Amino acid sequence: MQQVRLGLIGCGGMGKALCDQAVTLPGVCVTAVSDVDAERCAEAAGKYSATAVADYADLVTRGDVDAVVVATPGGLHRPPVEAAAAAGKHVFSEKPLAATVADCDAMIAAVEAAGVKSMVGQVCRWHPTHRMLHKMVQGWPLGAVRSIYVERLGSGWGANSAPWRYSRELSGGTLLEVNAHELDFMLWVAGPVKRVMAVGGQMVDLRSDYPDCTWVSLAFESGAVGVLQSTGVTTLPSYAARLDCEHGSATAASFFGGEITYKLWEPGAETQTLKPDKVETPVLGEMRAFVTAIRDDTATAVPFREARRTVAVVEAAYHSIATGQAVEL
Ligand SMILES: NC(=O)c1ccc[n+]([C@@H]2O[C@H](COP(=O)([O-])OP(=O)(O)OC[C@H]3O[C@@H](n4cnc5c(N)ncnc54)[C@H](O)[C@@H]3O)[C@@H](O)[C@H]2O)c1
Repeated sequence: MQQVRLGLIGCGGMGKALCDQAVTLPGVCVTAVSDVDAERCAEAAGKYSATAVADYADLVTRGDVDAVVVATPGGLHRPPVEAAAAAGKHVFSEKPLAATVADCDAMIAAVEAAGVKSMVGQVCRWHPTHRMLHKMVQGWPLGAVRSIYVERLGSGWGANSAPWRYSRELSGGTLLEVNAHELDFMLWVAGPVKRVMAVGGQMVDLRSDYPDCTWVSLAFESGAVGVLQSTGVTTLPSYAARLDCEHGSATAASFFGGEITYKLWEPGAETQTLKPDKVETPVLGEMRAFVTAIRDDTATAVPFREARRTVAVVEAAYHSIATGQAVEL
């Protein structure tokens, strides 16, 4: 079995979560780690018996690194991704791919010119309820999505309050730092978006420089319509979805692993509940998919070009909030 030796850039919470799972896969190890925070870098190096490298530019050119995992803040994914691609290394970038479409385009150009694999950590594709709903809209029982509503309502950054999360330039704001997941799901099940109209405002958390309460309306190329409700300002958190489709409707009141309730349009149809299929730890699932694509030389599950769509929707949403106009993509 081909060894896959990973280099990690950004040894914070998610970088370590990715590597903790990756090293459980046969033939996968972490050989080098880099972080601007020397203490974090040394700690991660000890954890994985890897070499601590102060500057990521020196990590990407190492002969003992086959693929690079980038888990710096979203607005800082581009420089290490470009460096890794230029060094001929496969790249896994955490979500969001970047905070701007311009950065996405530069990163796509870099990996495509280098001919390396690229993948973005849109981990909800490995979450059980998201996966089950995706399967249900492929044909039977639900069929094509006509209307989709997702709400992700939280209470601010809480324990995740690293200073970069308050900057749109560094994080992409809530719509990318959090809702890259929900928007990726909506695009995954309903297809590409052609028009975005959004309203939003900064209602509670004045430390950030972006709206913390938004409603994003989507017109899909298929003719379907959708709304994402996103807020960090509620005392009653909720993560839920409803899909109204060709053959019937489905709701998931608890999106992270909860049951799906659905009812078909058929005469006499009953409301049914379905437990999603059991899956492996989602972060393990995405790392397995990345490593498998490298070994089998196949397309990755979420190449950069696909993840760009989410960033484009969010950039359009911010523009729509600022101007009051709908934005064609
Ligand atoms: N999939 C998920 O559910 C999920 C959850 C949390 C975070 N994330 C994503 O993971 C990424 C990181 O988030 P986090 O929570 O781990 O943040 P974090 O603040 O815990 O870690 C980020 C790390 O990057 C380091 N860093 C910054 N600039 C660097 C550079 N130029 N070179 C090397 N290291 C650098 C920081 O010092 C820090 O250690 C973000 O893109 C975030 O959106 C995804």
